[in-house]
Amino acid sequence: MTQQKRPITLITGASAGIGAALAHEFAAHGHELVLVARRERVLGALADAIAAKGAPRPTVLGADLARLDAAQTIAAALDERGLEPDVVVNNAGFGLVGAAEALDRAEQVAMVDLNVRALTDLSLAFLDSLKRRRGGLLNVASIAAFMPGPGMAVYYASKAYVLSFSEALHRELKPKGVRVTVLCPGPVPTEFQARAGMSDGAFPRLLTRSAEQVARDGYRGLMQGRRVVIPGAVNWAVTAMIRFAPRSLVSSEAAGSLCPLSNARLHGEGAPSILKTDSSGY
Ligand SMILES: NC(=O)c1ccc[n+]([C@@H]2O[C@H](COP(=O)([O-])OP(=O)(O)OC[C@H]3O[C@@H](n4cnc5c(N)ncnc54)[C@H](OP(=O)(O)O)[C@@H]3O)[C@@H](O)[C@H]2O)c1
Repeated sequence: MTQQKRPITLITGASAGIGAALAHEFAAHGHELVLVARRERVLGALADAIAAKGAPRPTVLGADLARLDAAQTIAAALDERGLEPDVVVNNAGFGLVGAAEALDRAEQVAMVDLNVRALTDLSLAFLDSLKRRRGGLLNVASIAAFMPGPGMAVYYASKAYVLSFSEALHRELKPKGVRVTVLCPGPVPTEFQARAGMSDGAFPRLLTRSAEQVARDGYRGLMQGRRVVIPGAVNWAVTAMIRFAPRSLVSSEAAGSLCPLSNARLHGEGAPSILKTDSSGY
């Protein structure tokens, strides 16, 4: 029975932004897709757009990944349809701007449920089929993963987890023929900023990439078996600087200048540094 299942690429958070761009990118390279998010109708429209380009119409699954049973529900839905992943893309995630003590506690915990717990569960749930099919896992973190983020504390910490977890899996699963790549974008204009409570404004142009550029880099990185992909030379340089800077510096000055929005919001100040802007998001 297992042998007869059709391989698919499972993409979470495909109803908007980077996830939708990843869906187009994987479809353009011939992958059959299963798309997951809460807004099923939006996913349906995306599936139609992909089918209109001549690719197989993706399967659409409406699911709230913050629910404890989400991975189990998705696995059952795939099984019912005779499908199994050879690639899993954990992209769904959100952030919140504000001091941790001021933000709603339940919402911050829900961020951990989605960005951390669901991503972990879905990474592990399909390991058998990923190994059998010598497939891949693409987890979406952020350049936020490389530093603490005062003003977005839980979000930055959640992405640090994604980076650490994915790098470890990369090492563990490489000998088993499974590629694991963690994609760490800088700011990308999507629905993310409004959901996080960021005001409209200019992005630091040096760091900003479109969702399509990020999806292209992520796809290529996964196919090349790269461990970490940081789209954009300036983003790469920023994270390299952070990695080699003393942690005490990164936690204070550097964090402030590299996280201008959160710092400004936290302290009611203008953004310092070369990355000065009034709206940003990692
Ligand atoms: N935009 C940036 O600046 C940026 C930078 C670095 C990293 N990232 C990361 O990139 C990933 C995608 O972000 P984006 O910018 O594309 O954000 P986005 O435009 O807000 O899209 C987020 C996606 O996640 C889905 N989602 C949210 N909550 C969900 C839930 N409980 N269950 C299922 N799906 C859920 C949303 O779909 P529904 O609302 O339909 O459920 C949507 O498809 C995130 O992990 C984010 O942290 C973003």
